[in-house]
Amino acid sequence: MPAWLKDAVFYEIYPQSFKDTNGDGIGDIEGIIEKLDYVTSLGCNALWINPCFDSPFKDAGYDVRDYKKVAPRYGTNEDLYRLFAEAHKKGIHVLLDLVPGHTSEEHEWFLESKKADRNQYSDRYVWTGSAFQGIGGHPYIGGEADRDGCYMLNFFKCQPALNYGFLNRTEDWQMAPDEPACIETREAMKDIMRFWLDKGCDGFRVDMADSLVKEDDENKSATGAIWKEVREMLDNDYPEAALISEWSNPLLALKYGFHADFYLDHHGNGYNTLIRDNETPGGDHSFLKKDGNGDIIRFLNDYLPKYDKTSDVGYISFITCNHDTPRPRRTLSYEELKVAYAMFLTLPGVPFIYYGDEIGMRYLEDVHTKEGGYARTGSRTPMQWDNSANKGFSTAPADRLYLPVDPADDAPTVADQEKDPSSLLNTVKALTALRHNEPDLKADAEFEVVYAEKDEFPFVFKRGNLIIGVNPSEKKASATLPRKMEKVFEIGNVHLSDASLIMEPQSFCVLR
Ligand code: NOJ
Ligand code: CA
Repeated sequence: MPAWLKDAVFYEIYPQSFKDTNGDGIGDIEGIIEKLDYVTSLGCNALWINPCFDSPFKDAGYDVRDYKKVAPRYGTNEDLYRLFAEAHKKGIHVLLDLVPGHTSEEHEWFLESKKADRNQYSDRYVWTGSAFQGIGGHPYIGGEADRDGCYMLNFFKCQPALNYGFLNRTEDWQMAPDEPACIETREAMKDIMRFWLDKGCDGFRVDMADSLVKEDDENKSATGAIWKEVREMLDNDYPEAALISEWSNPLLALKYGFHADFYLDHHGNGYNTLIRDNETPGGDHSFLKKDGNGDIIRFLNDYLPKYDKTSDVGYISFITCNHDTPRPRRTLSYEELKVAYAMFLTLPGVPFIYYGDEIGMRYLEDVHTKEGGYARTGSRTPMQWDNSANKGFSTAPADRLYLPVDPADDAPTVADQEKDPSSLLNTVKALTALRHNEPDLKADAEFEVVYAEKDEFPFVFKRGNLIIGVNPSEKKASATLPRKMEKVFEIGNVHLSDASLIMEPQSFCVLR
């Protein structure tokens, strides 16, 4: 386990939309380098950069055409190596995004694999034995290749599935995970990881980490065996490198070697019960909405068993959101966001802030889809730095931007919020500073629920010697403390008398 993860606060950067330095309307690596001091000012000491590799961008870069080449629109490989070096000088670790389950349909391996004549890449992807033989239970394409077969897709049409084999085989074209072609696929992925680690990258966020071996068992044991092998490679040769999964099943992901797994809005609904739970009748039931309709027990029922069974092997990563989900500002106000982020940044595990969430950027409801974004596009608009043209994102004409900037008159910016002591941005900074200063707020420090009652507030938990109180509701709430304590940090107003904690509406506190 890389020790630096204990004190890591990640910042996720969608490179397209972060900072454009050459005026072509799209963010670039140089822009990330320019903003490293901003990342530090935020209290973040690690980055996850969405795929920045050569790609036709039919899925925003999750359709990789060349794993070892930076997309020219972002710069060159040398620029990325320089980013690693500059980040390291400032104590920032950099994770790249590894997409192991599929490539672009334009990847050279796939172009070879499609050929009628057998070659080195014929079995790099999943193919049936005839163009008329489809694949039950999986999306596939037929009639597009000279090769007589259908190929399996892993996600969109542009993303053919790499061949890691099938655990349970029912067709003669399905290979076992230990057949030479499948071993070659995983060796190719390890080779890509080594390539970037040797250049200075600090690890990977792994896309669809559970999607490798098909017809796997319910514990994904064949896919898990591959990740164990990858972890072994890291432990032996890159012990400081981090591996973080998009799996959202820490019971499996951490057991198979990931250092951390994201707490996402799928596989159990704990995340949504906190910030966007408006699908059942009777208004919004999110715990972190001030309406007070939320129930912390619904979150704990999902989270606690996962935490209890994995806290000795790895971390669960809370996120403000990511490039696939609506921004939290869609459902929460600035004041609600302060309490929400305070909770995310004081729970155990390694937290992630998605660029722009620190100022409460909006989810833009009506932008046109871009690069396969569809409903996700509204969370991918340009970072709002200041009130100059294009909110300081780019000097290109507004109609040449990757995506439009938020047109609202009151669209938040970094520059405005830096000046306002009570802004969301300054609250986030205070929280990250607190987290770095308190040993009991590190990723692995002890966690225990102190007070959590159905439909009641506040939620009170313990981290080591600290007690944390969370009252997102617009009602005053109180709880009994284990002993007399003093305030270390507060949002809103919190009073202490003897061993009682009285929390005014929309407040948060850390006590010692
Ligand atoms: C998850 C990524 O986060 C998403 O953006 C992408 O479209 C799919 N995986 C497919 O790679
Ligand atoms: Ca640019």
